[in-house]
Order: sequence, then C-alpha cells, then structure tokens
Amino acid sequence: MKIRRAVIPVAGKGTRFLPATKEVPKEMIPIINLPMIHYVVEEAILSGIEQVIFITSSGKNAIEDYFDRKFELEDFLIKNGKIKELEIIQKIGNMVEVTSIRQKEQLGLGHAVLCAKDIVGSEPFAVILGDEIVRGPNPVTKQLIDISSQNKNANVVGVMEVDPMETYKYGIVKGEYIDTNRKTMRMTTMVEKPKPADAPTNLATPGRYIFKPEIFDALKVIPKGVGGEYQLTDAINLLARESEVFAHVFEGNRFDTGNIEGYLNATIEFALMDKDSEAMMRRLIKEKVEKYNIK
Ligand code: UTP
Repeated sequence: MKIRRAVIPVAGKGTRFLPATKEVPKEMIPIINLPMIHYVVEEAILSGIEQVIFITSSGKNAIEDYFDRKFELEDFLIKNGKIKELEIIQKIGNMVEVTSIRQKEQLGLGHAVLCAKDIVGSEPFAVILGDEIVRGPNPVTKQLIDISSQNKNANVVGVMEVDPMETYKYGIVKGEYIDTNRKTMRMTTMVEKPKPADAPTNLATPGRYIFKPEIFDALKVIPKGVGGEYQLTDAINLLARESEVFAHVFEGNRFDTGNIEGYLNATIEFALMDKDSEAMMRRLIKEKVEKYNIK
C-alpha cells in the first residue's frame, strides 16, 4: 500500500536552543539559508509523501507559514525583478499539502503521534522527527517504506549504529536479523535511553518510522514512561508483542540538529557539500585554523 502521509512532530519546547526558541521554533532555525524543517519535508517528498501532518504547539505558526504561499513577498520580488528568488519562494509554497494539529500539552513524543490519529485514519503512515536530518542518495523514509512493502506493509523502525557509550540518548532496539547482510531485523524489544551497561545493542533510532494505524491502539494504553512522558518507544514495544515490527539499518548521514553541537556539525558539513558555499566555507575554516592556531 502506498504511504501518502507523514506525521512530523514539532511541538517540543526546544529547551536546548533557548533563548532562540523563546520566539523562534527550533525547526525554523536555518542551516545555511534553509530552515531545518525544509530538509526534513524535502526527505518526505522525495520518499513519495503527499501530505505532511505537523503536530504543533503555540508559537509554531512560522512552520506552517513557511510552507504556504506569501503573495505580498511574491509581488515585491516580481516588482523588483528578483525572478530567481521568486521561483524559490513559489516552489516552497507549493511543495506539499500541509495539515497541522495542536498538541495542547507537551506530554511526550508518543502523545504527539497519537494527536494525528483522526487525520491519519486507516492507512499506514510515516513518522519523521523535525529536528533530525538524514542525508544521502536514497531518502531514509523511502528506504523504510521499501522494507515495509517488502514485508506485507509491516511496521518499520529506522536504526543506525551509535557509539555504545551513547545509548542513553536514544531508543535502542534488539531483534533477529532476517537477511544475510544484517541490515533488517525482526524487532523483539526496544528500550528508551538505556545506560550503556543496560543497552541490549548499539542500534539506535534517530526518529524515522513507518507504522500501521494499530500503533494508535498501543499509544492509547501506554502509561507515562521515561522522563514522565508518553514515550513512542513504549508503544512500539507493545506493538512488537502483537504484530511484526522490523528494524532496518538505513544508509545515510544523520545529523541531530536538536542540539548545538549537532547543529554546528550540520552547518559546516552542509556548507562543504553545497556547490555555492563550499569554497566560502573552506576559506573560512582555513582562516580560523590559522587565526586560532587550531591543531
Ligand atoms: P525532544 O526530546 O528533542 O524535545 O523531542 P524538544 O522539546 O524538541 O527539545 P529539547 O530536548 O527541549 O531541547 C523530540 C521530537 O519530538 C517532538 C519535538 O518537537 C521533537 O521533534 N515532541 C516532543 C513533540 O512534538 N511533543 C512532545 O510532547 C515532545
């Protein structure tokens, strides 16, 4: 079955980016000249998604506005002959169909996904976190959609190997590989943010999933979990007991742009990967290395 909808939760408070996030949604902070959320929505579109469902909270209107048309700005650009800029702005305004739902209280990622239940209805859907960017030739959500369709439209969690000392930052999965090249496993358990000593593996999920609507039944019954929040991990665990959940080691470079270090890392690397800014970034890095005597 085709996966047409992606739920993108963006209702979090973004405390690691305060004070910027006092007024600006974290997802609107730009990497070079595109807000973080642009890269995420682009991944969704390249994966075949037709409708994006943002789970928002108060103060996040800028995200919906960004994907809307802005006729005053378009008129201004036309009058001033800025045709290249006009085309870029119009393209973003027509990128994808957007729907928003308010998560009135930030009760956790699990609760945020549950907010999409009525709009998602009876079709399988993707969940993509708005502050994690994965780049590579094959969009990560597309990779997971392919694994899902090869396995009777099963639930799929995207995973990547992380430093075993950093398992406390992620949901960690355990299961049995179903293929000889050890990329896809039938998941048995998922643990939220385990200490390295308690982690069953170092396979972590950075926020890419394909779910059947049955995830909502699990989300409705889970109690509050780690951090006093309704955790998506707990619902996935429950789901894995009753239904098939696969974990797939995806290909691509992942950037955790929800924290300052990951954000700086993405900014430098994206600038080096971009043909318009590569030379500029190389020159700037070279200057800084000399000026601050960086070894
Ligand atoms: P984070 O744990 O990164 O939280 O949420 P946050 O609020 O965005 O950032 P910090 O930790 O305070 O700096 C992971 C994702 O889940 C969404 C966030 O918007 C983010 O995309 N989320 C989290 C919600 O939509 N609702 C919630 O209740 C919690």
